[in-house]
Amino acid sequence: MANVRIGFIGAGGVNFGSNVGSWNHASRLEQIGGVEIVGIADIDTTRAERALAERKRATNATSIYANCKIYSSAEDMIEREKLDGVFVGLPPGCHGSLVKGLDIELACVKAGIHTFIEKPLSLVPPENFVDFARTLAAEQAKSNAIVSVGYMFRYHPAVVKMKEFITELHSAGKRVMCVNARYNCAYSESTKPHWWNVRSSGGPIIEQATHFCDLARYLAGEPNLGTISALNVNASEPSGKLSHIGEHIREDEIRDELRMPRATSAHWKFERNGIGSLMHGISLLGTSYETSFDVWADGLRMSLIEPYRSTCELRVRSGKSESERVFTFEDADAYLEEDKAFIEAIRTGNHSLIKCPYYDAVKTYDFTWAIRRAGEENDCF
Ligand SMILES: NC(=O)c1ccc[n+]([C@@H]2O[C@H](COP(=O)([O-])OP(=O)(O)OC[C@H]3O[C@@H](n4cnc5c(N)ncnc54)[C@H](O)[C@@H]3O)[C@@H](O)[C@H]2O)c1
Repeated sequence: MANVRIGFIGAGGVNFGSNVGSWNHASRLEQIGGVEIVGIADIDTTRAERALAERKRATNATSIYANCKIYSSAEDMIEREKLDGVFVGLPPGCHGSLVKGLDIELACVKAGIHTFIEKPLSLVPPENFVDFARTLAAEQAKSNAIVSVGYMFRYHPAVVKMKEFITELHSAGKRVMCVNARYNCAYSESTKPHWWNVRSSGGPIIEQATHFCDLARYLAGEPNLGTISALNVNASEPSGKLSHIGEHIREDEIRDELRMPRATSAHWKFERNGIGSLMHGISLLGTSYETSFDVWADGLRMSLIEPYRSTCELRVRSGKSESERVFTFEDADAYLEEDKAFIEAIRTGNHSLIKCPYYDAVKTYDFTWAIRRAGEENDCF
C-alpha cells in the first residue's frame, strides 16, 4: 500500500511540540507507519527547518522525512506537492475566514486534500463565521475531503468508556443531569505572546476551555446558548494578578480589556434538560495543567481525572453500590488515537472514523463564543 502523503501547515507547538503540553502531531505520525511527511509550510521557514532537523535527530526516523521540503507558503505547498492530507496548526486568527490568505483549510478541502485542523476553528465572530462554515461544507460535499477537528479528548479511552456508560443510561430512558468541568492551566512557562491577547487568541474559553466545552456537548448534548451566564476574574482585578508571566510576554503593552481573563465561571442548561458548569483558570506555575470533568445522572457519577496526563483515571459510582470503581488508563494518548483515526479514514475513505467532523466543531465554536460574550457582558474595567 502506498504511503499516505502528509503536509504540515504551521511548524509550531501543536505540530512539532513545545515546552508545555504533550501535544505534537509529528511524533504521533512517526508511530503510525505507512505515512510520509512530504512538506512543512510555515511563514517562518527557519522554525520549519529547525522543527524538521529536530524530528530527524530525535527519532532517526529519517525515512518518513526523507522527501520533506520546506515551504514559506502553504498555498505553494498544496499546489506543488501531491498531498493526501494536511495538519493545520496555525494561530486562530490566521485561518477560518473568507478573507484571502486566511482561508487555507478551504483551499485544502477544495483541492480534495483531507484536512486535520486544530481548534479553535477561527477568530471570526459566529454570526460572520457561519458563511465560512457553509462554504467549507459546500466544498467538502463536492470534493469528499475528510475534515477532522482536533478535539482529541473524544478519542481518549476514558472518554470512550464514559460514552459507554451514557449509552447505557440512554437505553434505560435516562439522561445526564449535570456536567461540571474544571480546567486550570499552568501559565508561567507560556512562550506564546499572541496567546495572552484576547484579540489574537480568542480568549481562554475559545482557545483553551473549548476542549471541555466540546466534551460537555459530546457527553451531554447541545447547550441552550440563551441560558448561559458567566463571570470573569479579569487581569486588572487584585485577584487577577499573575506574578510569574514570562518577561517576553509584555502583557503591559496589552490594553486591560484585551488581557486574558484569569478565571471564568459559567453555567447553562442543556437543550434536552440537565445543567452544565465550567470553571476555567490560568493560575498554576510550571507546565502541568489540572483538569477534571464530572458527569452526574440518576444512579451514576463519573469523574474523569487528569485526561491530559499519561496516567488518567475514570472514577465511577453507579447503581446501588456506594463504592466507586476506578478505571486507570496508563499511557493513554488521545493525540495518537485521533491521528490514527485520521490516517485510517484517509486510507479507507471512511468518514465515520472521525469523531469530530467540521460541522460538529462549529457548534462547539458557537458555544465557546456564547460563554465568552456572557462573561464580557458582566465585565467592568
Ligand atoms: N489540541 C490541542 O491540544 C492543542 C494544543 C496546542 C495548540 N493547539 C492549537 O493549535 C493551533 C496552533 O498552536 P501552536 O501552539 O502550534 O501555535 P504556534 O504559535 O506555536 O505555531 C504556529 C505556527 O504557525 C505559523 N504561521 C502563522 N501564520 C502562518 C501562515 N499563514 N502560513 C503558514 N504558517 C503560519 C507561525 O509562524 C508558527 O510557526 C492553535 O489554534 C492552538 O489552539 C491545540
